[in-house]
Amino acid sequence: MSVVEKTKSEAIIALENKYGAHNYHPLPVVLSRGEGVYVWDVDGKKYYDFLSAYSAVNQGHCHPKIVNALIQQSQKLTLTSRAFYNDQLGPYEEFLTKYFGFDKVLPMNTGAEAVETAIKLARKWSYEVKGIPENEAQIIVCDGNFHGRTTTIISFSNDANARKNFGPYTNGFISIPYDDIEALENVLKSSKNCAGFLVEPIQGEAGVYTPASDYMMRAKALCNKYNVLFIADEIQTGIARTGSLLAVCGDCNCENHCERQATYATPDILILGKAISGGAYPVSAVLANDTIMNVIKPGQHGSTFGGNPIAAAVAKAALEVVADENLAQNARVLGKLFRSKLNEYIKTSSIATLVRGRGLLNAVVINDTEESDTAWNICLVLRDNGLLAKPTHGNIIRFAPPLVMNEEQLLDCVAIIIKTLQQFEK
Ligand SMILES: Cc1ncc(COP(=O)(O)O)c(C=O)c1O
Repeated sequence: MSVVEKTKSEAIIALENKYGAHNYHPLPVVLSRGEGVYVWDVDGKKYYDFLSAYSAVNQGHCHPKIVNALIQQSQKLTLTSRAFYNDQLGPYEEFLTKYFGFDKVLPMNTGAEAVETAIKLARKWSYEVKGIPENEAQIIVCDGNFHGRTTTIISFSNDANARKNFGPYTNGFISIPYDDIEALENVLKSSKNCAGFLVEPIQGEAGVYTPASDYMMRAKALCNKYNVLFIADEIQTGIARTGSLLAVCGDCNCENHCERQATYATPDILILGKAISGGAYPVSAVLANDTIMNVIKPGQHGSTFGGNPIAAAVAKAALEVVADENLAQNARVLGKLFRSKLNEYIKTSSIATLVRGRGLLNAVVINDTEESDTAWNICLVLRDNGLLAKPTHGNIIRFAPPLVMNEEQLLDCVAIIIKTLQQFEK
């Protein structure tokens, strides 16, 4: 890297530091191009992307079919608001609901908005269908959850950094330990006013905590028993990331389209975001059947951009790519290979203690304290060695490449990761 080029990166980082709010702590690398599993920095250096924009770019960077849909639609009609109909939304809604097996969708833009939508929907259903007294509805959530950054959502987070000095908080949430069926049943038994159970099938931000393979099924069965909505936040885990179309499918061996929808832990409300657009546009969606979705009437929820024609065209193309390119199957096969190679290495490692995950959503736990900067330092060296990843919390590094990766590329990446970890062996 020449001195002049290095100055370019540093100058761009300095601009963000001076003019942007400091609400993120990015790895010091400035990207200017992406294609498939690769990204390039402003100096022309090539990297494997092992974060995929927090699992938004499952279809790979700048997928030609998705980019083409974006270009074509943006030259015809970009936004009408929902004051009028547009010719893309209806066909997209039909496609999306059939793809995931629900009656209806409520289109939004970001993940947090979709979670807010699901909370509103569950509360309204609980008053108008279940019969909970007004303002008494409770939603059960899990310790360690991450559902976004709005005021209501951080109200039920137990991440001190996400919450501190953002109060007063929104009421109506009960937090229980994750992956603890007994705790769920105890709350359901003791509170008559539960509207829903909001859960991530794998807790991504918390460090890729992967629950028992029957947790989702058992949680769903309990929700049925107590007439409580099972609300799956698949914003990070969905769209083939964990080796099946949805992570609530668990370890089932279905291909892209789950053929056993009757037996998997079908959510009452499904929340999607991120990879629903392949990372090309902010698109999110809340799916539910008519008995739930029909409680929402005109004027009670919405968004100027939700369901806009570009979002509809892009998301349709992005979901077609997932099916056409067998991304779920690829994630499942490569994920197994990734964990088996890392496990082999970990047997004799003093720096890495554990690899966990499902499909291509994985994390390696580093042998140091939560407060240490070892995981961060490892990510800096990974960057120098040509692979971009980021710590989640403290001593955990998440590894989530685009799902269009092939076996040769994955093995190349495993070699980079092991070589890097070896530099930190004690
Ligand atoms: C499980 C989960 N829910 C919600 C969100 C929030 O999505 P967004 O950042 O698009 O608001 C995220 C983002 O990382 C997430 O991982």
